[in-house]
Amino acid sequence: MTSSALYSPWRPLVIFYGICCYSATAFLSSTPFCPRGVPKSIRSRSFVSSRLASTMTVTAADITTAGKLGEAETSALSDKYKSVLYLATDKGADKGIEPNGFASLRGLTTRHLPVDVKDGLSLQLATDALQALDELPAPALVVCSSGGRASAVQCLRKATEEGWTKDQTLAYALEMKLPFVKNPSLKDWVLATVAAREYRDELPLLFRPLYEETSWTYTFLLGCPVTKEAILIDPVDLTVERDLQVIKEMGLTLVAALNTHCHADHVTGSGLLAQKVPGCKSMIAKISGAKASVHLESGDRVRFGRRYVEARATPGHTNGCMTFVTDDMKMAFTGDALLIRGCGRTDFQQGSPETMFESIWTQIFSLPHETSVYPGHDYRGRLMSTIGEEKRFNSRLSGKSREEFIEIMNNLKLAYPKKIDVALPANLVDGLLAS
Ligand SMILES: [Fe+2]
Repeated sequence: MTSSALYSPWRPLVIFYGICCYSATAFLSSTPFCPRGVPKSIRSRSFVSSRLASTMTVTAADITTAGKLGEAETSALSDKYKSVLYLATDKGADKGIEPNGFASLRGLTTRHLPVDVKDGLSLQLATDALQALDELPAPALVVCSSGGRASAVQCLRKATEEGWTKDQTLAYALEMKLPFVKNPSLKDWVLATVAAREYRDELPLLFRPLYEETSWTYTFLLGCPVTKEAILIDPVDLTVERDLQVIKEMGLTLVAALNTHCHADHVTGSGLLAQKVPGCKSMIAKISGAKASVHLESGDRVRFGRRYVEARATPGHTNGCMTFVTDDMKMAFTGDALLIRGCGRTDFQQGSPETMFESIWTQIFSLPHETSVYPGHDYRGRLMSTIGEEKRFNSRLSGKSREEFIEIMNNLKLAYPKKIDVALPANLVDGLLAS
């Protein structure tokens, strides 16, 4: 589907998930909306098939009780709807669920769009789901086995119709207790889709990847195209002057120098930058125990002009590792947590393979497949990857259970890092030990 479909005129579709539904009457009666876009009042009644009245409304609380449809519910619902959008796959928990059977038997128009939460979420899939809702006869029924995927699509539809921002969409989903919010992958999928639309018409982010050759470290410069404020991620002390030259030539103002973690292989340039550039703050995770102008916690947003990166705690390589994700979720700067076809070591600096596995799957692999991955290092000359690529080809993680990953990480037999005895003490004081 083209992006224009995201903005197609509102159609009175009625969305159903699991064993719950909104009736057309209820859908319309859910207005007015408060300034943040969250419905103030929605009448409610629990779903019971025998009570399917035309004025029935079901609240989000009912959605959490979603399950498979029984014969009685199916029969009653088939009289109320003209089409069905079925989102289940034929794998895992979905196995054994007949996708089209009940609807096609009763003459409803059906569309089967398999949504694989673990390995199939993409912006294209979200677009396809919205297009399917545009094309299906109204009122339509959206179904999945648990209610998670269906409520995600329902929320996307609503956010698109209302023109909501990411924050408004999330507020709505939380207010309505939509079940997809509890699933990090579905939540990121919905918010990334909304963000893609939100930033569609803006000038592109200013972006320059930079490199420090002695430690094989990548430094990333991100700038707001409107205000020209900028941030540096993982600057190195040896290349601070080079970075400042690039920033000057691009007409940018540096407002923050961020560290993905307390490095053991090079000395950070963040302290030097904070000294040299008025208004520039050095930043690192609070839990790292390292000095900085600003200590970050998971969920913090570092703003530069009209843009920001979200700091996500991704411990495992060190206890203070953070991944920085751009506001449109198009880029993730993973430091030494997720590397290209690998990941950071977990055998020093409070490292933990158990924690690393959890961090990568819940905070990084939950991002859309199209999200670009920019690691802190690569020793084979690769600059970037994508979430989809790493889920498929990362030999330490793809198809590996938690136990298999731990086994791999505990048997890497890596040498003691050459520069750790110099770099670590310096980085604990923002790279300013010598001064
Ligand atoms: Fe590191």
